[in-house]
Formats: sequence, structure tokens, C-alpha cells
Amino acid sequence: MLTSRIAISGFGAVGRATAHLLLARRDRYRTVFGVDVRLVAVCGSRSGAFDPAGLAPDRFDVLEAGLSGPDFIASSGADVLIEAGPSDFRTGGPGLDYIRSALTGGVDTIVISKGALVCDGRALRDRARASGAMLKISGATAAALPTIDLLHYNLAGCTTLRVDGILNATSNYLLDAMMIRGVGLDEALAEAQAGGFAEPDPRNDIEGWDTACKLLILANFGLGADLMMTDLTVEGIQSVTSGHIAQWRADGLAPRLVGSVIRDGDALRASVGIRTYPPNDPFAHIAGKNKAIRIETDAMGEIVAIGGGSGPIATAAAALKDLEHIFQSRSLR
Ligand SMILES: NC(=O)c1ccc[n+]([C@@H]2O[C@H](COP(=O)([O-])OP(=O)(O)OC[C@H]3O[C@@H](n4cnc5c(N)ncnc54)[C@H](OP(=O)(O)O)[C@@H]3O)[C@@H](O)[C@H]2O)c1
Repeated sequence: MLTSRIAISGFGAVGRATAHLLLARRDRYRTVFGVDVRLVAVCGSRSGAFDPAGLAPDRFDVLEAGLSGPDFIASSGADVLIEAGPSDFRTGGPGLDYIRSALTGGVDTIVISKGALVCDGRALRDRARASGAMLKISGATAAALPTIDLLHYNLAGCTTLRVDGILNATSNYLLDAMMIRGVGLDEALAEAQAGGFAEPDPRNDIEGWDTACKLLILANFGLGADLMMTDLTVEGIQSVTSGHIAQWRADGLAPRLVGSVIRDGDALRASVGIRTYPPNDPFAHIAGKNKAIRIETDAMGEIVAIGGGSGPIATAAAALKDLEHIFQSRSLR
């Protein structure tokens, strides 16, 4: 039986959900892949836990001070890193150093946070290529909604002509509430925050930055683009007024915050903004906290994927889908 040693950096809601799901699936990994999976290290910003024989959930409650940082993870002997720290697309966030260190050391890396991929995606890909490490990013690209895997696997060989995505559940919920129930943005936002699915600081969601991050990562990692955030036109939903809502209702249109990448000759152009859809368009029916992606290709036509859960468990499951793909690619089956 082969052994795979896993480390998780960033041990908040998603990191913990990933740890629990990973341990709950250990029998599956043994049966399907013939791999004994051990969670050898976890860490937050200042503390963590380590056991080369594998951590059990009772070690998650009280973490040990000082066990944190890229060097701690490197010294754990992990052969797979799952990075689940905060997303900061302006600096790359703390995840950047963990990911750089892991890829440099040839450690397969599953990235859930978006910041590092936005800020330094090309260099990270180069590091992975140089060391032979795999770099998987489902968690950072709308998680449970298949996006990057559609481009990499299902549409392999096709030329993608256009991608449109409703990639941010919070802004979709807010727009939907304004359209269907006639509430204002502030009221809808207060509801979403009370329900725990909008951040206390919701600007990244509302102003379109979270959508832009996912779109940029999809364009760069899925379509071979080399875009920076400054290449994107980004508009959010913060300026939607009751006048807009009344007009869209009168016209029978459904507004959605959509990120689009469009092939224009050899170039790819990306933007985020509100687009409106007639009732016969699938995007008109993406309600509430739902997400969707539509991909137009030269040879396979148009593909639409809708749904996928949001939240820590669905995100953890997307990261562990990446882990299974690593096992398959490494022929650990
Ligand atoms: N929540 C979701 O449903 C969801 C969905 C999709 C994607 N994501 C992405 O998943 C990531 C994690 O989200 P979350 O909800 O789990 O956030 P969270 O609960 O705030 O957890 C973030 C974790 O990162 C840790 N951290 C901060 N700086 C660190 C450092 N220098 N080294 C190691 N760990 C550090 C924090 O440690 P301390 O506890 O010590 O501060 C905390 O454990 C984010 O990038 C988010 O965008 C989340």
C-alpha cells in the first residue's frame, strides 16, 4: 500500500472541513487507489499540529503555538499541500509563500485561495513545471461548480471561443432578491450577512472583484492567457438602483453579474459586469445562491453547467476531487 502524506495550510472553515472530509474518506482512498492517506500537518497563522503517523480529529481542537509557516509545512514531509488560507488578490496573501515553497520542493499542491493564483499564476505554473509538481485549482475557480475541469478535461482539444460565468453566489443572491422581492441592496445584503453567506466586508463580492479573480484564473490557467487584473474591466452590482430594477422587470429581462472571456483573434478579452438575459436563456434561471458557466467552443458547441453547492464542505469536496485527480495522474490506483 502506498502512502500519501497531506498537509493543510489555512485552518479556518474550509481547511477544517477539508481535514474532516479527508479523514472520512480514508477507506475510499485505500479501496479505490490503494493509498493510505495520512493528514500529517495542519496550521493556521500562528499554530498547528503535526504527526507523521497521521492526525486524528481530536488534534484539531487545540493547536500548538509556533507550528505554522511554509518551513513548518515543508518539514512535515507532506507530498501534497492543500492551501486554504485567506484570499488576497492584491498581495497574493499568505498562501503565496506556502504554494511557492511546496511547488519548489516538488510537492503536489491544491490551491483553494485565489490571491496567489491571481498575483503570480504564471510563475507558480513555471515552478510546478520545473519541479514536476502538480498544481490543482478547482477550489479557487468556483469550487463545486465544474469550471477549470471542463476546460482541461471535458473540452480538451477544442478552441474555446467564449466563457461566461455567474461565479459569485452572493452577488447573484442579492440581484435576485432585488428583482424578485423588490428589496433594496442594503436590505438584501443584511439578509445575506445574517444568513452567513455574505462577508462582513462584502466589497469583493458586490464590486465584482471575486468574480474577476475567478475569471482571471480561468483565463490564465484554463485558456493559456496571461492576463493581469488591470487588463480586466470590472463592474459590480453596487450601483444598481430601483430604476434599473423597474426597467429590467418592464423589459422581461433577468440581470446577472457575469464574468466573460471572449476570444478576439489571438487575444482574449475579459470583463465583469451586469448582463441581462431573456427568459429563454439558461442564465435567466440561475436563482439565489446558484452559479453557472457557459463555454462556447469551436468543435463541441456550447456547454452549460449550473449549480454546485457553496460553503466550506462543497469547497472542501472540490479540493478533494483535485486530490483524486492527482492520485489518478500519478497512477496511484
Ligand atoms: N468559506 C467558503 O465557503 C469558501 C468557498 C470558496 C472558497 N473559499 C476560500 O477558502 C479560503 C479559506 O476560507 P475560510 O472561509 O476557511 O476562511 P477562514 O475561516 O477565515 O480561515 C482562514 C484561515 O487561514 C489562516 N491563516 C491566515 N494567515 C495564515 C498564515 N500566514 N499561515 C497559515 N494560515 C493562515 C487563518 O488562521 P488563524 O485562524 O490563525 O487566523 C485561518 O485558519 C479563502 O481563500 C476563501 O476565499 C472559501
